[in-house]
Amino acid sequence: MKKALALTLAAAMSLSLVACSGGTSTSQSSSASTSTGSTSTGSSSAAQTSTVANKDKPLVWFNRQPSNSSTGELDMTALNFNANTYYVGFDANQGAELQGTMVKDYIEANIDTIDRNGDGIIGYVLAIGDIGHNDSIARTRGVRNALGTAVEANGETDSTPVGTNTDGTSTIVKDGSLEVNGTTYTVRELASQEMKNSAGATWDAATAGNAINTWSASFGDSIDVVVSNNDGMGMSMFNAWSKDQGVPTFGYDANSDAVAAIAEGYGGTISQHADVQAYLTLRVLRNALDGVDINTGISVADEAGNVLSENEYVYNEEERSYYALNVAVTAENYQDYLDSTVTFAPVSNQLDAAEHPTKKVWLNIYNAADNFLSATYQPLLQKYDDLLNLEVEYIGGDGQTESNITNRLGNPSQYDAFAINMVKTDNAASYTGLLSQ
Ligand code: BGC
Ligand code: CA
Repeated sequence: MKKALALTLAAAMSLSLVACSGGTSTSQSSSASTSTGSTSTGSSSAAQTSTVANKDKPLVWFNRQPSNSSTGELDMTALNFNANTYYVGFDANQGAELQGTMVKDYIEANIDTIDRNGDGIIGYVLAIGDIGHNDSIARTRGVRNALGTAVEANGETDSTPVGTNTDGTSTIVKDGSLEVNGTTYTVRELASQEMKNSAGATWDAATAGNAINTWSASFGDSIDVVVSNNDGMGMSMFNAWSKDQGVPTFGYDANSDAVAAIAEGYGGTISQHADVQAYLTLRVLRNALDGVDINTGISVADEAGNVLSENEYVYNEEERSYYALNVAVTAENYQDYLDSTVTFAPVSNQLDAAEHPTKKVWLNIYNAADNFLSATYQPLLQKYDDLLNLEVEYIGGDGQTESNITNRLGNPSQYDAFAINMVKTDNAASYTGLLSQ
């Protein structure tokens, strides 16, 4: 039922995408293209840039979507901060379903060897990144839905960590059952935990490494599969325990080290098309600064030939959000994903510096120690900033407090545009407040 709905929505979205890209330009781009559009950002010419108020400068939220961390409800005030505000992320539900299916397919294909202690129960443990991050929530749900361990709470799959559930009595999850070749197996979520360190950093790889050591010391023989909301935590668990034990471990992000580990028994990962996301993050700013249609070089080829197709992303107009699509990376195709920092070829053409003069962008990463953002996303941004003639100042946060980052946005007037990756998805106002002063 839910799956059908999601598919319908996806179809509707791609239809509206076609409609957008083929049809007339948006109101915003038309105001920019007529010189009388005095209410637009006024950023269409270089000379004007310095006079644009900070509150009117292009702003892109990325990787952490402004939203309520308890309900997941989007923060539309932040997403509509000004006419040139967007979010760039990836399709969390499509990716989560893909991750769950990848794990299930692996279990089915390896059913003869997967149950290590032969008790008829396929036990898995799950590393949760951040209980208040909608991408993390989606991935936890995707795994539980696919493995039949999901329990509904308030009309949706409960994504709460179980702590330990070795006896199968948890009310947050239930035992699933999987029938393969006429035999029925029980699937049990033995343990799950939010990987947050004592200082408050979420998605914490070291915490995940400690957790697998604790879990394996008390019920290691029951663990047949390790699943993680991301590769940073997944690789930490793999290196600490599962690699030596030959226990398949699944992550998310397709960081280079995780993809390479597939050759050594890492079960698989999901590419969230960071090469497309990093491009979109900077491209929407470039377009807004140039005063051109926002989909230039996105759905519509630019003069250098840069263009994306609907296989790579969807745009949701109402949510002001670009979502990259996900691809499963497994033993079958990992050779094509070994370097996660290579730009996406269809959007790797240099923009002309005379047509697109250098602009200054302030960009922050919520946690300089986050594996995905530091090892995959930022290196990509640093390649695209050259191609798009943007001079980007990169600020790395500590993953714990917003002020550690906002303290370094003392003079927003120095920049033409902003790209923001919040510590907590609730905290958009900490940034927009500064830009509104
Ligand atoms: C990534 C995680 C990362 C998180 C940070 C997610 O999209 O998959 O690896 O830690 O973003 O916000
Ligand atoms: Ca077992």
